Amino acid sequence: MTSPRVDSKNSRASRSSRRRRGIFISFEGPDGAGKTTHARLLAELLGKRGHKVVLTREPGGTPFGEQVREILLDPATGRISHLTELLLYESIRAHHVESLIVPALKSGKIVICDRFTDASLAYQGYGRGLPAETVRRLNEIASSGLKPDITILLDIDSRDGLDACVRDNARSSRRKKSSTGRLDRIESAGAAFHRRVRRGYLRMAAAEPRRFMLVKRAPTLDDTFARMIRLLGKKCPGLRLVAAP
Ligand code: TMP
Repeated sequence: MTSPRVDSKNSRASRSSRRRRGIFISFEGPDGAGKTTHARLLAELLGKRGHKVVLTREPGGTPFGEQVREILLDPATGRISHLTELLLYESIRAHHVESLIVPALKSGKIVICDRFTDASLAYQGYGRGLPAETVRRLNEIASSGLKPDITILLDIDSRDGLDACVRDNARSSRRKKSSTGRLDRIESAGAAFHRRVRRGYLRMAAAEPRRFMLVKRAPTLDDTFARMIRLLGKKCPGLRLVAAP
């Protein structure tokens, strides 16, 4: 299979530097924007259309990453310095990139990653207030310079997003019959923090319009997904998103 064309100058540079053949798509957005659901739906759709797809996430993606994710999100971890927090996300990333993402891209797969380097800039940079340059340098080291070809930014008002998190957490704790329906360590960082995160994402999208694809939430999940697929079809015309006639 030849790789579908991605209409992005940045993607050409980073793809040739890693000599990879696949496509790297990241999903970003404030907490509660619905990226995990949309990433899964996109992976299923591309799989049905014959693409080889790897769906992964940060923090997480590997057994090591999933363990460190628990530490990062567990409210019992308590306060750790912003730099310590950033380094934990970056350590997950370094291992994830070298052990899973780059090998999958080299074998021509489409890698869909639920959050990547932009999340560190949004949360630890804009949100926590670490200098953007520090976050960028650590992102560059941890990812070996790998950048997504396309970043799908699902936008939601940060208050609506947190309300959605509360509802989701309550639903999943009912399913698991556990009593913990509360927000995780990052979700509970406060309304002002989440407003800064959202602003950060919107600034990043404005600064790199070729890579970012901004998707505003529609009234229903199906409408948002349809909107996302329409935009993706324009951005990446070679991707098979509709069934062959
Ligand atoms: P998730 O809820 O999207 O799975 O992500 C877990 C949390 O981790 C979410 O609140 C965003 C946060 N996060 C960071 O703060 N920095 C990062 O670099 C990443 C990847 C996620």
